[in-house]
Amino acid sequence: MFKITWYGHATLGLESGGYRILVDPFFSGNPLSPVRADQVQADFILVTHGHGDHVGDTVAIARRCGALVISNYEICNWLDKKGVKTHAQHLGGGYQHPFGYLKLTFALHGSALPDGTYGGNPAGFLLTTPDGLKVYLAGDTGLFGDMKLIGEEGLDLAVLPIGDNYTMGPEDALRAVKLLQPKHVIPIHFGTFDLIRQDAQRWAQRVQADSSARVHILKADESFELS
Ligand code: NI
Ligand code: MN
Repeated sequence: MFKITWYGHATLGLESGGYRILVDPFFSGNPLSPVRADQVQADFILVTHGHGDHVGDTVAIARRCGALVISNYEICNWLDKKGVKTHAQHLGGGYQHPFGYLKLTFALHGSALPDGTYGGNPAGFLLTTPDGLKVYLAGDTGLFGDMKLIGEEGLDLAVLPIGDNYTMGPEDALRAVKLLQPKHVIPIHFGTFDLIRQDAQRWAQRVQADSSARVHILKADESFELS
């Protein structure tokens, strides 16, 4: 069983192999989040890139829960100095964690950390769960043609930004679905601020008319399960 919960913006909670995993845990200052950073639990935290709306509350949650943070080498270095336990990987590299096999994928974006420190290359994540489900978390990214290569792995679920301005917008996210060919899609990184307001229902109708993917629009704190 694999369960994913959206906390607004790009903040996700995963349950995989019996472990609790937070992705880009931005709770403080996230207007869509129904929960506070001190109310969540995590065994692992995944950070796609260094921007403040993704690193978010990583340090506080990791310290309180003793969670292991997985990110790129540069971001892990920055977190190590703040007393956080980390596991560094890098683009194209995978590792068998207790919750599944996790590979860092390319993302077309920036990654400076909140204090201006160089945060290496931004990433997405491709997770193969202990049950063999394949889940692609694109992170903040523009459209890129190598999404086709990621799609060749056979995706059960793709989580894609649709907000435009900072990441893919609805048009390019539809093209991404066609390259990735996932069974299910969840749109994120929209609606948080005026700059990234989108009509997700309308996007879902277009995706479903133009591909075989099923779109699931979650409310903040709502979950979706794969089995
Ligand atoms: Ni970003
Ligand atoms: Mn972002």
